[in-house]
Amino acid sequence: AGAGLYLQSCSNQKVSKEKVKLIQGLGPKITADELKTVKGIDYKVFISHGELINSQGDRFGFNNDYIGYRSLGKNEAILWVNHEDVNPIFINGWERSKKNIDEEMRNVGGTLIHVKKENGNWTPLINSKYNRRLDANTKIPFSHKTKILNQDFALGTMANCAGGVTPWGSILTCEENYDSFFGERNEDGSLQKSRLDWEKFYKRPPEHYGYVVEINPKTGDAVKHVQMGRFAHECATYKKGKSGKACFYMGDDRADQCLYKFISDKDDQIENGKLYVASLENKKWISLSIEDQPILKKNFKNQTEVYMYTRKAAGLVGGSKLDRPEDIEVDPLTGDIFICLTNNKKKGNYFGQILKVSESNDNAESLNFTSEIYMPGGLDNGFASPDNLEFDKNGNLWMTTDISGSSIEKGPYKGFGNNGLFFIGRVGSYKGKIIKVASAPKDAEFTGPCFADDGETLFLSVQHPGELTKDLENPTSTWPTGKGPKPSVVTLGGPTMKHLLSMG
Ligand code: FEO
Ligand code: CA
Ligand code: CA
Ligand code: CA
Repeated sequence: AGAGLYLQSCSNQKVSKEKVKLIQGLGPKITADELKTVKGIDYKVFISHGELINSQGDRFGFNNDYIGYRSLGKNEAILWVNHEDVNPIFINGWERSKKNIDEEMRNVGGTLIHVKKENGNWTPLINSKYNRRLDANTKIPFSHKTKILNQDFALGTMANCAGGVTPWGSILTCEENYDSFFGERNEDGSLQKSRLDWEKFYKRPPEHYGYVVEINPKTGDAVKHVQMGRFAHECATYKKGKSGKACFYMGDDRADQCLYKFISDKDDQIENGKLYVASLENKKWISLSIEDQPILKKNFKNQTEVYMYTRKAAGLVGGSKLDRPEDIEVDPLTGDIFICLTNNKKKGNYFGQILKVSESNDNAESLNFTSEIYMPGGLDNGFASPDNLEFDKNGNLWMTTDISGSSIEKGPYKGFGNNGLFFIGRVGSYKGKIIKVASAPKDAEFTGPCFADDGETLFLSVQHPGELTKDLENPTSTWPTGKGPKPSVVTLGGPTMKHLLSMG
């Protein structure tokens, strides 16, 4: 079964016998309001919420998450940064006035920013033509000009959590908890209220959000890919199929929701293809095509409607209910798919695990697979609630955790300390070791780990420091300025970073 798996050991993890002077990780229990790193790793704040990104007056949004890297040559790139959410207390306050909501709407979506390494430091090039914002008012067409509730475009992209990059150079940004902004549709057609109450001033259908959005980083052009389904999209991770087709793995980060795969008909675009949901019990990818599934034909008017209410369709065909699938990466050593299942509190799974899916014949186009737990969270391994993954070029794994701010060092989470960045050694001297290399400031999570191509730098988002703040005079975090907290992107570098990245 997919849900509630608690394997105690991990066969892939054999402790290295090599005699090398190994880097010692940070202790597990750090609760300081600091971005702490192991000896030999230093960090620099790269950009923070509210900073100008261009001469038109656009500013870096709030709660930065996923970072996508589009190289422009050595030591130069366009970064795409997601802005997942807003915390009104740090924007204009919780009063639900039009002015305050308008300001919040400018702070979500994403940022494109041209970056370059100069004198050893990665710096934003503020006057670059590539720098721009997408926000809650950007007009974005649906793929194939599909009409979703009578409109072939959406206004805005929100809840942009994780994402992916394509081999043809575009960035995928994924709309996760879209219901926070304009609510959600109930089965009976009525509307559920949102958390932020934006619908008070803007009537927009929830069905316009919850998609994978493809961005051209050079132009800012965007499209919402209806055919990849609509749910709390965490990410979209590419793996090339054996015949060359572009395949994407996607999780629906909600308790007891599913893992999906989209197999494109083509090698170099995702406009056409088929959506599948995983059944771990049957070891099969199940088609969500209305032509393949009589039960879908019975319950939906057409394929577009299946995409609009993907969760319902996945339930009808028997998709496995998982413990909140978050980020997904493809293991460069084996081709296996690694999926963070972050937790499922109502099932008593507090610490989560990393799930491994092995496609038959290592073929992403295959409809059969096996799965097992690669690594469980828990005090033995020193981490809980895994969220983002990134493999380095040698196949060592970097992971960030997301224990929610209100749970840190409470109840079952006692002993884990603040959220962290972990190095999981899989090859070289650190094989079998799990090292906490950085600890986040108070209430924060690290997200969006992204390697620059200089072989020595990690871009990393520090999201929602001080999120439990109730009084601006007394914030729960003052990182990074020593005054109020600011979500920021940092770069991690230094000799230990280089050392870990050289472990092949
Ligand atoms: Fe936005 Fe599932 O984390
Ligand atoms: Ca996430
Ligand atoms: Ca990732
Ligand atoms: Ca999370």
